[in-house]
Amino acid sequence: MAKKVLPPQTLLYPVPVVLVSCGELEGKKDIVTLAWVGVVNSEPPMVGIGVRPSRYSHELISKTREFVVNLPRADQVKAVEVCGSTSGRTSDKFATTGLTAVPGAKVRAPLIAECPVNLECRVQQIVNLPTHDLFLAEIVAVHVAEEVLDGHGRIDPDKARPLAYCNGQYWQSAVLPA
Ligand SMILES: Cc1cc2nc3c(=O)[nH]c(=O)nc-3n(C[C@H](O)[C@H](O)[C@H](O)COP(=O)(O)O)c2cc1C
Repeated sequence: MAKKVLPPQTLLYPVPVVLVSCGELEGKKDIVTLAWVGVVNSEPPMVGIGVRPSRYSHELISKTREFVVNLPRADQVKAVEVCGSTSGRTSDKFATTGLTAVPGAKVRAPLIAECPVNLECRVQQIVNLPTHDLFLAEIVAVHVAEEVLDGHGRIDPDKARPLAYCNGQYWQSAVLPA
């Protein structure tokens, strides 16, 4: 396999695309589309999200130290685009997308009702990096729509239809035979 050496870049693919909701259900709230997201620890379960300090969501997450990672289905890509191209500083993204804010079990940040999976997160540590701040957070509650589970109570990717991102494009993956 002949290979080219490219300049250093974030060429890791595919990465998940998620909708992170933050703020407070009855107060200021926001939804931001993020792709710089990953699992960083098993016990306790933890995720890391990379958010630029210029984002309105950064302001809300820094203040409340809570957020919810909502996993959109591939057919929610329009809402993903809206939440990734407009700022909560100037528009209420729950209103512009038609997504519904519902209360969580452990955090004050709202969940997105229409996303099949919601991970409630509490920030443990913030790492300042040159372009983004990395919020390391513990997953304190998980909500899963029964309709995306298989007969063993696990996520069925064919039903959850997760969205991935690569090179400025959205990907929809399919389950391969083992
Ligand atoms: C597919 C996609 C992935 C994105 N990933 C990130 C990310 O990981 N970190 C980030 O800071 N911004 C990311 N953005 C940009 C923000 O979603 C965008 O700037 C948004 O308008 C910020 O909204 P806010 O000001 O309400 O927080 C992404 C945008 C798109 C479309």
